[in-house]
Amino acid sequence: MKRIAIALTVNGKAVEVVAEPREHLADLLRGTLMLTGTHIGCEHGVCGACTVEIDGVPQRSCIVHAGSCDGASVRTIEGFADDAVVAALRESFSREHALQCGYCTPGMLVVARDIVLRLPDADEARVREELAGNLCRCTGYRGIVRAVLGVLADRRAGSSRAEPR
Ligand code: FES
Ligand code: FES
Repeated sequence: MKRIAIALTVNGKAVEVVAEPREHLADLLRGTLMLTGTHIGCEHGVCGACTVEIDGVPQRSCIVHAGSCDGASVRTIEGFADDAVVAALRESFSREHALQCGYCTPGMLVVARDIVLRLPDADEARVREELAGNLCRCTGYRGIVRAVLGVLADRRAGSSRAEPR
């Protein structure tokens, strides 16, 4: 079968790659581009370990056909290295013991960042609902939820401090 030429942006850099006809984005990122921070767990869209941003929206890269990403902008966990929200989340995850083996963590961070930016007033129930598509076999989720709520609370406190009196 014919291989597919794809031009896309990955973590801000334009790349041109050739994918197998049945290849999914997670394999392309890990195998061709060596971006192994994107993890693969179930490989059928259930666990969320492979979550990356595609055109600004978190998506499971194991169920995205690589060929459909021609022209897309993809951001993997490596692309968030200098991101202020992810930096705050990393600290909060560490403080709240929100990881053990860390296998789910890249996907969790991508989704957690989206929650923080999209839902600044999210409460615990909403954070749990938003994280429901990301499975963690180690932590029992309490630390992860506390970590996200902690960043949300810090940002609310910061923005109320910044408001003029
Ligand atoms: S590996 Fe993609 S959702 Fe589990
Ligand atoms: S920390 Fe091990 S799966 Fe989440």
